[in-house]
Amino acid sequence: MFTMTPIGFVRSPYSDTTQVPKGVGARHEAEGTLEIAPEFEAGLKDIEGFSHLFVIWCFDRSEGYELEGVPPTDDRPHGVFSTRSPRRPNPIGLSVVEVLGREGRNVRVRGLDMLDGTPILDIKPYMSSVPPEKLRLGWFGEAEARRAAEAKSK
Ligand SMILES: C[S@@+](CC[C@H](N)C(=O)[O-])C[C@H]1O[C@@H](n2cnc3c(N)ncnc32)[C@H](O)[C@@H]1O
Repeated sequence: MFTMTPIGFVRSPYSDTTQVPKGVGARHEAEGTLEIAPEFEAGLKDIEGFSHLFVIWCFDRSEGYELEGVPPTDDRPHGVFSTRSPRRPNPIGLSVVEVLGREGRNVRVRGLDMLDGTPILDIKPYMSSVPPEKLRLGWFGEAEARRAAEAKSK
């Protein structure tokens, strides 16, 4: 067992899960703030130098888990570890956000998909090292290709 203490909370425009864009082609443009607790503020030093951050957070408003389920991006079931489902054995969320600026212990960001008040567990600089030609998107890539083919045939 592990015990974690939030380093802060997300301030987002979303108060309900139905407000967060979902499904294939959903874009996350919502802006808000990562409000870091005063005792962790020193840990933000130099963060403005990064364009994007990984935010690791807790799905504090999801209950239980489902090992297989149909995600909103497809009509077929997939294993929880090949999806971004909020209903997972350890309710950990991971989002990449763009840094807009920082005022003290508040980091302004774009690209939120979390609810207002979501506990933040950690922040790390985003550094992508996977060349696009080596990236495989599994069922998600296939679902996107099917959607594109359907749109073309209409
Ligand atoms: C599909 S998950 C993906 C989250 C993250 N990007 C990831 O990959 O781990 C995003 C959804 O989680 C739900 N959600 C956001 N914040 C939540 C919270 N604090 N507790 C429970 N569900 C939440 C919303 O319905 C949102 O559409």
